[in-house]
Amino acid sequence: MINLKDIHKSYDMGDVKVPVLNGIDLTIQTGEFVAIMGPSGSGKTTLLNVIGCLDSIDSGEYSLAGEQINTLDDKSMARIRSQHIGFVFQLFNLIPRISARRNIELPMIYANVNKADRFTRTSNALERVGLIDRAKHVPTQLSGGQQQRVAIARALVNNPELLVADEPTGSLDSKTGKEIMQLFEKLNAEGVTIIMVTHETDIASYAHRQVHLLDGRIDQDNR
Ligand SMILES: Nc1ncnc2c1ncn2[C@@H]1O[C@H](COP(=O)(O)OP(=O)(O)OP(=O)(O)O)[C@@H](O)[C@H]1O
Ligand SMILES: [Mg+2]
Repeated sequence: MINLKDIHKSYDMGDVKVPVLNGIDLTIQTGEFVAIMGPSGSGKTTLLNVIGCLDSIDSGEYSLAGEQINTLDDKSMARIRSQHIGFVFQLFNLIPRISARRNIELPMIYANVNKADRFTRTSNALERVGLIDRAKHVPTQLSGGQQQRVAIARALVNNPELLVADEPTGSLDSKTGKEIMQLFEKLNAEGVTIIMVTHETDIASYAHRQVHLLDGRIDQDNR
């Protein structure tokens, strides 16, 4: 599903170029559940953003779901994102004063999905994360774990084959974090490919493969 070949990326900081990814080669098959680990600043988020088509690369080749990503313009990257990828973040990124249902619905409103379809797809996504009984709650009326479930439901509404998650348990206590990992295990068993960044070993152990980054290179790949 994912094939990265000799990926290089640096950030321009005025007149200096800061290299961040220094020749990443990585292949991930459909159905895998992968944890990306490594010290702070090693390039985990940058790599995840490249995989998630949120960020471009300087050189190398990236293909996702049969499409050559590194040759695409921004508009095509946006299309790939909405067709194939769901995103989950450390801080949930929910909109505060609107209900869980509305938060999940919003991306579909922008995508011009009609009202009836929106309702059905939102209900299905809420069922999948076990929160249908909290549909009318606003984020402050939900626990951290429940907020992350709403964010996961939002990531699932387009039925993406790939879920990318940057420290999805980073704002949760360890028990709630494990519950989110059980949800990831269930989604993975249903066929969703998952790539998750974490620096917690016990969270990473839910994945079936751990890829360790060091200074923008793959240091270790435990399959
Ligand atoms: N937008 C940016 N502009 C300039 N430099 C950046 C930018 N984003 C990241 N960097 C630099 O790239 C390097 C890798 O950052 P990245 O966010 O990928 O690390 P990380 O492994 O996710 O770290 P952490 O565990 O702290 O989240 C860092 O040195 C960082 O300063
Ligand atoms: Mg990061």
